[in-house]
Amino acid sequence: MSAELNPTWYKDAVFYELYVRAFKDANADGHGDLRGLLSKLDYLQDLGVDCLWLLPICPSPLVDDGYDVSDYRNIHPDYGTLDDFKALVEGIHARGMRVIIDVVVNHTSDQHPWFQQARASKDSPYRDWYVWSDTPDRYKEARIIFKDTETSNWTFDPVAGQYYWHRFYSQQPDLNYDNPAVQQEMLDILDFWLELGVDGFRVDAVPYLFEREGTNCENLPETHQFVKRMRAHMDARWPGRILLAEANQWPEDVRAYFGDDDEFHMAFHFPIMPRLFMALKQRSRRAIVDILRRTPEIPPLAQWCIFLRNHDELTLEMVTEEERQYMWEQYAPEPRMRLNLGIRRRLAPLLDNDQRRIRLMNALLFTLPGSPILYYGDEIGMGDDIWRHDRNGVRTPMQWDDSKNAGFSTADRLYESVIDDDVYGYRRVNVARQRADPNSLWHAVHHMLSVRKRYRAFGRGPFEFVLPENEAVLAYWRVWTSPQTGAEEERFLVLVNLTDQPQTASFDLTDYAGRTPVDVLNGEAWPTVGHTTYSCTLAPYAYHWLQL
Ligand code: GLC
Repeated sequence: MSAELNPTWYKDAVFYELYVRAFKDANADGHGDLRGLLSKLDYLQDLGVDCLWLLPICPSPLVDDGYDVSDYRNIHPDYGTLDDFKALVEGIHARGMRVIIDVVVNHTSDQHPWFQQARASKDSPYRDWYVWSDTPDRYKEARIIFKDTETSNWTFDPVAGQYYWHRFYSQQPDLNYDNPAVQQEMLDILDFWLELGVDGFRVDAVPYLFEREGTNCENLPETHQFVKRMRAHMDARWPGRILLAEANQWPEDVRAYFGDDDEFHMAFHFPIMPRLFMALKQRSRRAIVDILRRTPEIPPLAQWCIFLRNHDELTLEMVTEEERQYMWEQYAPEPRMRLNLGIRRRLAPLLDNDQRRIRLMNALLFTLPGSPILYYGDEIGMGDDIWRHDRNGVRTPMQWDDSKNAGFSTADRLYESVIDDDVYGYRRVNVARQRADPNSLWHAVHHMLSVRKRYRAFGRGPFEFVLPENEAVLAYWRVWTSPQTGAEEERFLVLVNLTDQPQTASFDLTDYAGRTPVDVLNGEAWPTVGHTTYSCTLAPYAYHWLQL
């Protein structure tokens, strides 16, 4: 359905995050590109993807894989041209899918002409586009994010003769949002891409736009003011296009980024992610229940985005110190697996390649509140390589088949070599092989997505925990009530066994006496609900989507 007919399309959408460089190389230079991606759109459509999210595609010296932009109005030459991009957007829309792109608002590359001019002269109009200081002592309360590499948020620039402010790598100077010209420029950049047809943006590193003495320089009121300006601009000129916030913060702080439906349409729910992994190890739903209980209601047009993994380290910023140590011990026993405050591993290796747990986590991803985002390659359980630089080990080429370079490229040298180990190597783990095997992870994910799409409850319905005594069982309602008639049209009870042992649980379902639950994943009917306690035994790592 078009955005005009369904302005809240993002609530029903399944997102797929992909790194263009890693997906498919059409011109045999060893780098994935836009034409390559175009040739794989049928694959994404078949999988059940509704909206693609592309990691940064603009020209960049690639110190931070494109999150260091040197030209906001062009395509990185490795990826193709603006014409290729237009063809891609057309191809995506022709298949009824949508696309959002990353927009890096907080900082640029130090190679960007703005920064080059800014550092060259105090009289340049661009000087004030960045944040300068004669001493490195300002904004002392701001934390360092890339703490494995950076020792300060200030770097002295000998050309400028001053220090400049940066929240990420020192090659990523922060823009000065106190300067109205910077704000206007960002709005113009949004327009540039919206005119090319993108359906929205994943807005990078939102909390850090402004700096104020005596604060931690995150989530400042001024930042919210600017976000409101972006949203008003979108609503006035581009209805149906969306803004998705990357704000790695606690639920109550992220809640503020929805405003009164006048800031972001969507925001990632960062804190739930590590707790899904915790719950499995702890054999208890407690961590998941606690964080969702702590999650405030969001306004009517707003929607969470949930995910299991992405292109960064599995972040442990939104957990307590004790929980972080626990997660590191459990999921990153080798020091090299750790990076900054997180874990540089992919989904399948994190779960010891245990198909039951991988499927269970996907079953949660597709039924918990919010729109799910899949990370490319996780639908076939791709592996990683912790020994590669920075986060490169989770950004390796997509494994299409067992031919040279996993069918990703015919070049002899790739931007990163294909995973080729005994367990996750491309000869074993690839799309072609899994599509040919009805019992594969690919088919399980594909099946869950196709079932999810038949209902509105999972994307739009309210959410409510059911708390049987047995904490190893996670259970919740997803319900859809027609806004027109007020009639309840869908009611699901999702049941999950978080452990490797059979678990029994009892529920009070007497309000639904006479109904026969049917597991929509396999069509099996369960015993009809009576007027007494409803008891069941769940197989190890079982998940059921019961329709009542
Ligand atoms: C976001 C991105 C990350 C990048 C950082 C700086 O956190 O997800 O990949 O390094 O912003 O732009």
